[in-house]
Amino acid sequence: MWRLLLFFWRMLFFCMIVADVAAAHVRYSIPEEMAMGSIVGNIFQDVGLDVQRLKSGRARIFTEDSSEYIALNLDKGTLEIKQRIDREERCGQVSPCSLHFQIILNNPMELHHVDVEILDINDNAPVFTKREMNFDISESAVKGARFPLDSAKDPDVGSNSLRTYKLSPTDHFKLSILSRPDGTKYAEMILDALLDREMHEQHKLTLTAYDGGDPPKSSSVRINVIVLDANDNAPVFSQSRYKVTVPENSPRGTHITQVSATDADKGVNGEVVYSFSQNSDVASSVFNIQANTGEIHVVGALNYEKVKQYEIDVEATDKGGLRDTCKVLIELVDLNDNAPVISIISLSNPIPEDSPLETTIAMLNIKDLDSGMNGQVKCFISHDLPFKIKPSSLNFYSLVSNDILDRETVPEYNITITAIDEGTPPRSANKTIHLKLSDVNDHAPVFPRTFYSASITENNNPGVPFLAVKASDEDSGNNARLSYFLEDNPLKGMSASAFFTVNAESGEIMAVRSFDYEQTKDFVIHVKAQDGGSPTLSSNVSIHVLIQDQNDNAPQVLYPVQTGGSVLAEMVPRSADVGYLVTKVVAVDVDSGQNAWLSYKVHKATDRALFEVGLHNGEIRTVRQVTDKDAVKQRLTVLVEDNGQPSRSATVIVNVAVADSFPEVLSEFTDFSMHDKEYNDKLTFYLVLALAVVSFLFITCLLLIISVKVYRWRQERLFFKSNGALPVIPYYPPLYADVDGSGTLKQAFSYDVCGTTDSRKSDLKFSRQISQNTLSGDCTRTVPRPKTDLDNLLAEFEGIREKVTVQNWSLYCGLRVLAVK
Ligand SMILES: *[C@@H]1O[C@H](CO)[C@@H](O)[C@H](O)[C@H]1NC(C)=O
Ligand SMILES: *[C@@H]1O[C@H](CO)[C@@H](O)[C@H](O)[C@H]1NC(C)=O
Repeated sequence: MWRLLLFFWRMLFFCMIVADVAAAHVRYSIPEEMAMGSIVGNIFQDVGLDVQRLKSGRARIFTEDSSEYIALNLDKGTLEIKQRIDREERCGQVSPCSLHFQIILNNPMELHHVDVEILDINDNAPVFTKREMNFDISESAVKGARFPLDSAKDPDVGSNSLRTYKLSPTDHFKLSILSRPDGTKYAEMILDALLDREMHEQHKLTLTAYDGGDPPKSSSVRINVIVLDANDNAPVFSQSRYKVTVPENSPRGTHITQVSATDADKGVNGEVVYSFSQNSDVASSVFNIQANTGEIHVVGALNYEKVKQYEIDVEATDKGGLRDTCKVLIELVDLNDNAPVISIISLSNPIPEDSPLETTIAMLNIKDLDSGMNGQVKCFISHDLPFKIKPSSLNFYSLVSNDILDRETVPEYNITITAIDEGTPPRSANKTIHLKLSDVNDHAPVFPRTFYSASITENNNPGVPFLAVKASDEDSGNNARLSYFLEDNPLKGMSASAFFTVNAESGEIMAVRSFDYEQTKDFVIHVKAQDGGSPTLSSNVSIHVLIQDQNDNAPQVLYPVQTGGSVLAEMVPRSADVGYLVTKVVAVDVDSGQNAWLSYKVHKATDRALFEVGLHNGEIRTVRQVTDKDAVKQRLTVLVEDNGQPSRSATVIVNVAVADSFPEVLSEFTDFSMHDKEYNDKLTFYLVLALAVVSFLFITCLLLIISVKVYRWRQERLFFKSNGALPVIPYYPPLYADVDGSGTLKQAFSYDVCGTTDSRKSDLKFSRQISQNTLSGDCTRTVPRPKTDLDNLLAEFEGIREKVTVQNWSLYCGLRVLAVK
């Protein structure tokens, strides 16, 4: 109302001014948008023209731009709105906005300027060019951040133009209205409260622009604020602690568990990456985690015996670097994957067989790495062994003997120790101890026989083994290494070692001398076998050594006596009957058995038909009646032969005188002796001669000794007597004495140079009688003793002396025969 009054007042004021200067200018002010036909002004009044003039002058309006907003009413003399005037269209923001035109009159020509000022009315509301405005604002935007808003446009001018803005709601933003230099106003949105995408992802606001009209006009625009996510949330694990159990030895790739974390942020800020934290590098060699899913798998070897549980810190990290951690506790479950292990800590091997009970043989340590029942171990050995296992302390056992041991029964044992755990399935281990028993000398040597007998042929070669004894010893080694010794018992009055020796190694028994059956027929010796133990054990065996006879002696003719020069003859009276016993050839053989079984044969005879010799008894008898034609001198050669292999023999010449008187015989036998001499071997004769010469030399040299000898022999001869039916044998046969003296014991290491007739005792009673009578006091036995060179020399000398003696004796006999002649 007030404004309307003011408007009229101003309009009135302008009209008055125009009227004042009608001659030149007329001015009007009209509001825009007046209706058609509305009167702008009255020309009559304002210019002073009347209707006539208007008509006569044919008044009209002239405009330079030919716009015809206003028309002239000639009748009324008024200017009227011909066309609606929009100030904004006509002038825009130019103010003031005026229409200029002229009223032209003719007759006379008159020109009047008219200015019509168009006054603004609030006919336009402010207008936003966009229907809505969109903003993307990060939630991390700081308070006070400014966001320019599009301005609204109001074509009205002056007070009708844009005056102000309003924003609603204003819980997060406030508005700041600013003016540009040209006076236009614009607004900025200022962040007043922090945004949180997680609470409100979008804000809808309305910006309203008001102009200054009365009433004011307004218009609004929508503002959409989208809150952009900022990485303001850390990932969060669903559990702070995960606990899983997994059997050991699970293969690679076994799924263990899955951890998960959530991140309230959006997009990449909400993307979570899982990893093991730095301090879990032990676990990371065994497990891995999938970065995007959080799945944990086995990648290494799980061994309960090494690590019983793993504690892993798992981190979940988003792209912005925010993180959370959780613990994953992985407990391994033991499996019976380890067999017990038996180790021998100490071992006594071998042990002596006489070890007492409970002797410790070995110390064992048995371990099983598994735990619980899987690690509980039982340990045993076979029941049939004489050993047992004794637990000593935890995991330690001792293997001890449990019975009496005997190496000779079982020399070694394979002791298999078995350890088994109590897992399912159980696992076991074996260990074998190869135990040897060492020998103890608990067995004496044993001979397979209690008694041996062996035989040696006489005249054996000393040193040739004739028997080997062998004992055995159940022990071993030195305890079974046997040596053989001869027990040095007295044997035939001497030490046994004088006769025999035993090879200590081989047990071979040898004679150390040559035996003479005729002297010794058997021996009983003892051989001891001794082992090498400590102390030693020994046993003995007796050995019966038989000496076997050899036909080493030829028969010896005892009668008739054969001498080189002597002539003896048996007398056979011519009246003798058939079967007359002429004489008996007496011979002995010092051998025994077959070797001494003598037979007699006539070898040569003057007249074979006259005499015969008893094959076994040697009796010479006549086989026919003696006649006068038979020669006085009869000569028989009798062969005495033993039954040995080969046989040995001797011959004896028997002279028989077939005569009735002794002178007859003597006359015949002078010849006979000459014949006899021829008959004798010439060599023997020369030998006798040579020996006589040698003897002679001895006589000259050792006259005194020979004299004594001769004296002795003579005395002995006086002792010689005839025995029984046999004729008197005036002296001892030289050959026999020779054999006896040196023939049977030829060996150099014998000192027994003086022949004894004792050995002949059992062989021939006859001979014994003779020898007892003749030589019993003559013989001396020397005890054998170690032989030296001096001894040899002495022996040789004795031999020679003896021979000389014999030869002297023979010589003496020869002389005697010659004396008889
Ligand atoms: C012990 O075992 C070995 C081989 O391992 C074998 O030669 C020996 O004969 C066995 N001894 C016994 C007494 O079983
Ligand atoms: C031989 O051994 C036996 C026991 O076997 C013993 O009685 C005897 O005395 C021993 N003989 C000799 C000569 O050592």
